[in-house]
Amino acid sequence: MIALYFSGTGNTRYCLRKLVRRLDPSAPIVPLEDLAAAALLKKEKTVFLAYPTQFSNIPYFVRDFILRNGGSWAGKSVFLLNTMGAFSGDGTGVAARLLKKRGARILGGLFLKMPDSVADVKALKKSHERNEAIVRAAEKEIEATALSIKEGRYPQQGLGLWAHMAGLFGQRLWFLGRTRGYSDRLKVSSACEGCGLCVESCPTHNLSLVAGKAVPSGRCAMCYRCVVHCPQRAITILGKEVIDPIKIEDFLPKE
Ligand SMILES: Cc1cc2nc3c(=O)[nH]c(=O)nc-3n(C[C@H](O)[C@H](O)[C@H](O)COP(=O)(O)O)c2cc1C
Repeated sequence: MIALYFSGTGNTRYCLRKLVRRLDPSAPIVPLEDLAAAALLKKEKTVFLAYPTQFSNIPYFVRDFILRNGGSWAGKSVFLLNTMGAFSGDGTGVAARLLKKRGARILGGLFLKMPDSVADVKALKKSHERNEAIVRAAEKEIEATALSIKEGRYPQQGLGLWAHMAGLFGQRLWFLGRTRGYSDRLKVSSACEGCGLCVESCPTHNLSLVAGKAVPSGRCAMCYRCVVHCPQRAITILGKEVIDPIKIEDFLPKE
């Protein structure tokens, strides 16, 4: 088994790791931006693929990975894990349909509600306590799912017709433009001090330092990793100012 993921603020990585470690303590858990991901995919038969919902759709970065490695999915058994701030519809189903067309068998799908990662938009913002409770609830659901998978029962969330309708008409259709390709909406304000943390953290190499300032190149995956890591709060994507730059570590016990 291998586990592949895309994760901006860490929610998806955390959930996938927790689930997979209960099922197979030695399975490789690899981010899609890692060059090893495509090579591992070729070799393994069972794949756990995880990503956050973006506008009830899969992030373009994930779609891009699935399509670029189109020949590697035939004969694979794939389980889809999808984290979300509130509502995903068929966030698992979108990937399932893409993968089935390429010859994969879908084992199941799981939605996990986690803190909202859109750090520069007010909607869906919750208190720290509420977010902690959301993470604890997700942890419980992961434990229950691991037990059920061990008994051969895979959850089937987001894979049916009703979920397809809910995802499509509930949100995806109205926001299709946002996930059709990489985004050029990322902005860096004059507060940027050129520390380079965003450049290092970006999964798509969208940012580079030019004359001591971070400059985007229109290849943003909207993952919000740079937004939440910028010490100057200088980066925005969908909104105009950084309101709540949270990441999964904020809700875990301090080591
Ligand atoms: C661009 C963008 C769009 C999003 N769209 C949705 C959405 O349609 N529904 C939802 O419930 N959450 C949505 N979210 C929230 C994330 O799916 C959620 O916070 C997820 O757990 C983030 O995972 P990560 O930390 O692994 O990146 C969106 C987040 C981003 C950045």
